[in-house]
Amino acid sequence: MTDVVVEFVRLEDVIAIRHQVLRQEQPRSSCYYPEDTYKQTVHFAAKINNQIIGSASLYKESHPDFVLKQSWRIRGMAVLEAFQGHNIGTQLLETCINHAIKNKAEVIWCNARIDAVTFYKNSGFKIIGEEFELANIGPHFLMAKNLGIHIGQTRFIEIAKKLFRKKSSVPIPQPKHQA
Ligand SMILES: CC(C)(COP(=O)(O)OP(=O)(O)OC[C@H]1O[C@@H](n2cnc3c(N)ncnc32)[C@H](O)[C@@H]1OP(=O)(O)O)[C@@H](O)C(=O)NCCC(=O)NCCS
Repeated sequence: MTDVVVEFVRLEDVIAIRHQVLRQEQPRSSCYYPEDTYKQTVHFAAKINNQIIGSASLYKESHPDFVLKQSWRIRGMAVLEAFQGHNIGTQLLETCINHAIKNKAEVIWCNARIDAVTFYKNSGFKIIGEEFELANIGPHFLMAKNLGIHIGQTRFIEIAKKLFRKKSSVPIPQPKHQA
């Protein structure tokens, strides 16, 4: 799809897309997330002819079970249904990743809806841990991408799984290279 522009926008500009794509059955007020108030939060919108057709938000935030310095989190990743499957989500995602890298991120993560797992995998995110349920939304996976230059992806997943093993009684599958 041509002439898609991805740029910084204000919080108010992403609420309608969040509501329409991610939380249609819930009140509009549920589309304001606590992280929106964080100091380093940024919001991106994909626009065609100045109309917003997708959005994503990026927060400087560690996962509670996955505390690494310089963690950034993606939330509110959404593209209007009529525009899905045309690489617009990937442009938003890559913009978030690049912003995180510019800000010295070591890891970028999200809670991914099951339907969006392949989308994130395509941009290098890995599943960490087991499937879990988010109330009113459905099943999710924690997914993360290593942006640090000092540890490889395999080592990164090992560390992440160890952290999870401490917290969880659910057995976690071993990384492929140890199988
Ligand atoms: C998830 C979402 C943000 C992805 O955005 P998108 O613009 O549809 O994503 P992309 O087009 O960049 O890539 C998604 C898929 O389209 C495919 N694709 C890319 N360009 C394409 C094209 N020109 N024609 C057809 N398919 C294409 C990709 O290969 C990918 O397919 P796959 O996931 O089956 O491997 C969007 O589908 C969405 O808003 N979904 C509903 C809300 C949601 O689940 N959000 C994520 C919350 S965690």
